[in-house]
Amino acid sequence: MAKFYNRMVKSYLVLERRLEKFREVLRKRQKDLTVFVENVKNEHNFSAIIRTCDAVGVLKVHYYYEGKGKLPINEGITIGAHRWVFLERVHDVGKKLKELKGEGYQVVVTWLGEDSVDFRSVDYTKPTVLVVGNELTGVSEGVLHLADLKVKIPMMGMVQSLNVSVATAVILYEAQRQRYEKGMYNEPSLSEGEIEEIIKKWAYEDVIERRKPKSD
Ligand SMILES: C[S@@+](CC[C@H](N)C(=O)[O-])C[C@H]1O[C@@H](n2cnc3c(N)ncnc32)[C@H](O)[C@@H]1O
Repeated sequence: MAKFYNRMVKSYLVLERRLEKFREVLRKRQKDLTVFVENVKNEHNFSAIIRTCDAVGVLKVHYYYEGKGKLPINEGITIGAHRWVFLERVHDVGKKLKELKGEGYQVVVTWLGEDSVDFRSVDYTKPTVLVVGNELTGVSEGVLHLADLKVKIPMMGMVQSLNVSVATAVILYEAQRQRYEKGMYNEPSLSEGEIEEIIKKWAYEDVIERRKPKSD
């Protein structure tokens, strides 16, 4: 690995301080806090969610999208955050959530129903998958059945719900607050080996990205 750094740095492909920044960010990534985006259709919403995930330290976003092709990303909104958050497209929502449950994750589903609890009453320091839903219909029935907890952000106005990217940010920052207070950003949740592997990937992709012709 040391050879890899020396080669990248000596050949001026990646500055040493850029590699240090990668390491610093990865040491704060929360491996056991993930977001599941169920059928969000608007690229602006999806992009804003990814940007918040990067800011809070979410390592990976899972998403289900029923449309053809990939769910588009708006780079003007992510301002690059999509390069630093792993995106996994899921085709079978139930299977993926059951898999995560099997790994010890609590499934926290955003839902505006009567049986939902205030989002601030949940312990997000536990391994957590936060599920957010479609702009019009919310999360699916199948997801509700798999929920360990249903949460809502209290609404006091005339409008019934928040924009999905805003709701995701509000809840993720509560998770960030709890994890910060517990010192979970002080000790890396990724192993040194995992961090080095990701740095390698990011460094190569960074070089490729910088070599792309810039559009106006
Ligand atoms: C516009 S809302 C969908 C509204 C839909 N009519 C429903 O009843 O779920 C889109 C997504 O934003 C999130 N959301 C919006 N407002 C929320 C709130 N007050 N509490 C929790 N989640 C919320 C949820 O993930 C929801 O699935």
